[in-house]
Amino acid sequence: MISVENLELVKEKRTILQIEKFELKQGKTQAIIGPNGAGKSTFLKVMALLEQPTRGKVFFAGREVTKKNMIAFRRRMAVVFQEPLLLNTTVFNNVALGLKLRGIRGDKLTQRVDHWLERLNISDLRDRKPVYLSGGEAQRVSLARAFALEPEVVFLDEPFSALDFPTRINLLEDLGHLLGNSGVTAMFVTHDFNEIPYLTNDVVVIDRGKLVFEGLLKKLLAEGVQNDTVQHLLSPFKKFNQIRLF
Ligand SMILES: Nc1ncnc2c1ncn2[C@@H]1O[C@H](COP(=O)(O)OP(=O)(O)O)[C@@H](O)[C@H]1O
Ligand SMILES: [Mg+2]
Repeated sequence: MISVENLELVKEKRTILQIEKFELKQGKTQAIIGPNGAGKSTFLKVMALLEQPTRGKVFFAGREVTKKNMIAFRRRMAVVFQEPLLLNTTVFNNVALGLKLRGIRGDKLTQRVDHWLERLNISDLRDRKPVYLSGGEAQRVSLARAFALEPEVVFLDEPFSALDFPTRINLLEDLGHLLGNSGVTAMFVTHDFNEIPYLTNDVVVIDRGKLVFEGLLKKLLAEGVQNDTVQHLLSPFKKFNQIRLF
């Protein structure tokens, strides 16, 4: 669906990303994991066409991304960040805004928004303002806003990291069902191995801007990889044998 070749991203003379080849496969959920500062968010932004690489090419559905076609491709995607970034208006309006910008109006708009409020279990919050929402509720609104666009690709950058444990599990379960039933292509960034099995078995590990593992989570856990970062990320989970596998 989206791929990169010979990607390099340099900021203030530092190489932040260096990725020879990567493909986000159509209809699949791809987890990206790595420690703080590894380059996960930057990688996500490059794939979501929000940031341009210093070198290398990005392809969307087989076509090279250029300045000319970038906006059209971006309309086929949605992004959810760690902070919900909601506007000070009702939940309904927050979800409706992106659709309005895309020219959807009237009954079609109302139906589409109500459908996604329902799917995210927040119909009863329809007329509330974001200041009165819990962190979990606010993140449900931002998921509804993203999915209401009915994007072909959805990017999620540590969307649940700020939430408490039970809220996080609920949201991971609901998101897992949404992604599993929708056929949408997704890129899910996290620093917590425990979150991955709720959504997918496909994982990429990024360390200091480079991909150090790409494959099944099962394989990674079974064989491990000879990489200090991976061992470090895995150690708390291995110790307690906590990871729920498919
Ligand atoms: N605008 C910027 N200018 C300079 N360095 C940056 C900028 N944005 C991010 N970085 C650096 O790039 C690296 C990767 O950042 P980021 O992609 O946010 O990592 P992650 O999401 O994995 O925590 C970090 O070392 C960070 O300090
Ligand atoms: Mg980040």
